[in-house]
Amino acid sequence: MAALFLLGFMGSGKSAVARHLSRGLNLPLVDLDAYIESQIGTSIAEFFALHGEEAFRGIETEALKNFCGRRAVISLGGGVPTREINRELLKQAAAGGALVVYLQTAPATLAARIRRAPGKRPLIDGDGPLDLEATQRLVEALMREREGFYLECANFRVETDNFSIQDVAAHVERAYRNG
Ligand code: S3P
Repeated sequence: MAALFLLGFMGSGKSAVARHLSRGLNLPLVDLDAYIESQIGTSIAEFFALHGEEAFRGIETEALKNFCGRRAVISLGGGVPTREINRELLKQAAAGGALVVYLQTAPATLAARIRRAPGKRPLIDGDGPLDLEATQRLVEALMREREGFYLECANFRVETDNFSIQDVAAHVERAYRNG
């Protein structure tokens, strides 16, 4: 069986679901953001502040290329599908048998989760932490730009709002096994 990618907005639960799936499917776990942080030797928030988003996107694409052929559970940063080259890489992986899962989550849920980790998301808190209402407005605006990209790359979609991480992981695990 091939790779399993998790796509979705910041706060959609990709990393937590990926940990469950890696255990359940006995596959290596790759958290692309954590991998990038290990490569750059600093946090993504710090890197954004010093070098900006474009520099981060270049590193992110190289990291994605590195893991595309791997048989692993790979949790992606929420902005990966905003770049055309990344969408092509994911579509190629899907054509080669990878399961590319979109964790679909409502902006209100995402905003509440993002607020629980202040300062972690430079695209939201880059100019200082926002309140919940401003966070939700920003999430809604970014989601309008991004949702089409998530749907374009994914070959499996899971709504997560009313389900636990365990439930979502079990649902994805069944899809992967039925491959
Ligand atoms: C980003 C999402 C983050 C991280 C970076 C940019 C985005 O990952 O890659 O801050 O553009 O949505 P998470 O989705 O894991 O928070």
